[in-house]
Amino acid sequence: MNTLQELTLTRPDDFHLHVRDDAQMQAVLPFSARQFARAIIMPNLKPPVVTTALAAAYRDRILSALPDALKHRFEPLMTLYLTDDTAPPEILRAKNSGIVHGVKLYPAGATTNSAAGVTDIARCYAALEAMEKNDMPLLVHGEVTDPSIDIFDREKIFIDTVLTPVIRRFPGLRVVFEHITTQEAADFVAAAPDTLAATITAHHLRYNRNAIFQGGIRPHYYCLPVLKREHHRQALTRAATSGSKKFFLGTDSAPHPCALKENDCGCAGIFTAHAAIELYAEAFEQAGALDRLEAFASFNGADFYRLPRNTARITLRKTPWQIPERIDFAGDMLIPLAAGEMLGWKML
Ligand code: NCD
Ligand code: ZN
Repeated sequence: MNTLQELTLTRPDDFHLHVRDDAQMQAVLPFSARQFARAIIMPNLKPPVVTTALAAAYRDRILSALPDALKHRFEPLMTLYLTDDTAPPEILRAKNSGIVHGVKLYPAGATTNSAAGVTDIARCYAALEAMEKNDMPLLVHGEVTDPSIDIFDREKIFIDTVLTPVIRRFPGLRVVFEHITTQEAADFVAAAPDTLAATITAHHLRYNRNAIFQGGIRPHYYCLPVLKREHHRQALTRAATSGSKKFFLGTDSAPHPCALKENDCGCAGIFTAHAAIELYAEAFEQAGALDRLEAFASFNGADFYRLPRNTARITLRKTPWQIPERIDFAGDMLIPLAAGEMLGWKML
């Protein structure tokens, strides 16, 4: 049998991306802009992007950080950071701006830069109602923060205690369950109404939680939600390759300086933008589903967000290449996922 040597896809979009800011952004943004036409930009800066005015200023900084060759070719899709105090008029401003495409719920303390997040979802009901009315999607970091709940169970409990009540109360609200990591989440999304969709990262398709502990503690495999057991990885792979329109690409590429990862309290976040589409291609190939990659990477997310599908195309070639050991990160060092390893697919 002939194995496929070249793969041409509609240019994909990344529906969950951290590009940071300033010099750090300058270092990582070209990786994403080279591969993707658009990306949903996470608002968890310090301080967070809580208003449309801040989102517009951040968008301008992103556009000016693009290298000349990628200018006018990459569109940042901005988001607001939901807080206990987000007021309905801010939602209206966001909608009318045309540049804000979602509002992100971080339960307070759930992950990197989430201290200003939501302490109790009930405090956001007015904002959620305005989002439902104005057709502004809610993007959720789906983990509870109760320290007495086992870290591997936090996504599952979030479904029962937060997500289900929100979906019931606001049936018209479009919700993206970001970076799902469990079979329970995949099943829940598949069975839910079409207003609920989910993103899946390349690292959650590629690894299970053993990767964090392989021969010692491996901080570069630590992210939130944390990697789970193998059967969850398999369930995510089935969901991503199922052909369902509810699942789409969101890398959650989240760069941190090496010294803050290799630390006695290492940051959560895995950088994958350097080889994002190639990492997904490998995962789909291993599942025997390369023919489903285009819908997952280039169609389903655009359709859910009601954006036009991209028309440009990209080509991946079967050419083994070595992922760099490190990347310069504004004078710091950034360790990319699978540093030093060989990848089979390369985007031309
Ligand atoms: C993200 C970050 O570093 O900003 N970290 C992560 O582990 N995914 C935040 C997030 O998306 O949870
Ligand atoms: Zn993220």
